Amino acid sequence: MNKELSANHLLGIKQLSAADICLIHETTVHFKKIINRNIRKVPTLRDITIVNLFFENSTRTKLSFELAEKRLSADIINFSASSSSVKKGETLVDTVKNILAMKVDIVVMRHPDPGAAMFLSEHIDARIVNAGDGTHEHPTQALLDSFSIREALGNDELIDIAGKKVVIVGDIMHSRVALSNIFCLQKLGAEVMVCGPATLIPKHIESLGVKVTHDLKKALNWCDVANMLRVQLERQEMKLFPSLREYSMLYGLNKTLLDSLDKEIVVMHPGPINRGVEITSEVADSEQSVILEQVQNGVAVRMAVLYLLASKLRQG
Ligand code: CP
Repeated sequence: MNKELSANHLLGIKQLSAADICLIHETTVHFKKIINRNIRKVPTLRDITIVNLFFENSTRTKLSFELAEKRLSADIINFSASSSSVKKGETLVDTVKNILAMKVDIVVMRHPDPGAAMFLSEHIDARIVNAGDGTHEHPTQALLDSFSIREALGNDELIDIAGKKVVIVGDIMHSRVALSNIFCLQKLGAEVMVCGPATLIPKHIESLGVKVTHDLKKALNWCDVANMLRVQLERQEMKLFPSLREYSMLYGLNKTLLDSLDKEIVVMHPGPINRGVEITSEVADSEQSVILEQVQNGVAVRMAVLYLLASKLRQG
């Protein structure tokens, strides 16, 4: 197995190799043990300063990165665009150059524009971690989702998921989680299907090597794992389906549907959940759901990513 990442930044899953993903997962196993012991903090990143730049709302990703950084003993600065000089017209590059003048090593950034993390990596001298760039990629979400799948299908052992079947259901069109998951799962050898109304599935998505269906029951009977995505109403410029009620009738996962399947499947959701729309409370809180396991794994995955990037940084 590789001992270091091939990339200097985490811009997207597209830039990672299968060996990089496996290295991050193996490192995650180590950090998951640490965050579950009595003393959950290690001094690993005490010489490293990290800024969390959030230009868009977040609960899980922001808290998860912050906690990961604290568990690793990094020095951290938190920046929220809504209370910054961005409001006075300062550009992204100027904002970040000013922050870097204060000697920051790693920038974790969420931004509404696709490509923002890549743009930043080309203009500033720091390691960049993409915490979600618009509708483009959300690499740490895909890394924690695929880690959770490997664990759930292996009954807590990290198994090889080559040949396993994962369906991603819902608003594929506006989802950075979907694109990063497709790249990540395929690199690990899994088969991927997307399912949702035609208006929420990009026209040429088959060219990425995924199967497409508009029939939820068919998709669920095919898969080992169903990842139920949130309908991103805030990114939809026009009405793409008649009503949330109709959406939930056709594409929502409820207990009756889950119990009618030929086999037990693993149910996932990246959050935030719209209970009663893409998933009912009964399913979200059921034994088959690994939603809170995903959240716990998110901290360990982010510790692994930051540790591996900092190791490369120290080598120069
Ligand atoms: N899954 C996820 O990215 O959630 P947040 O938007 O709350 O960070």
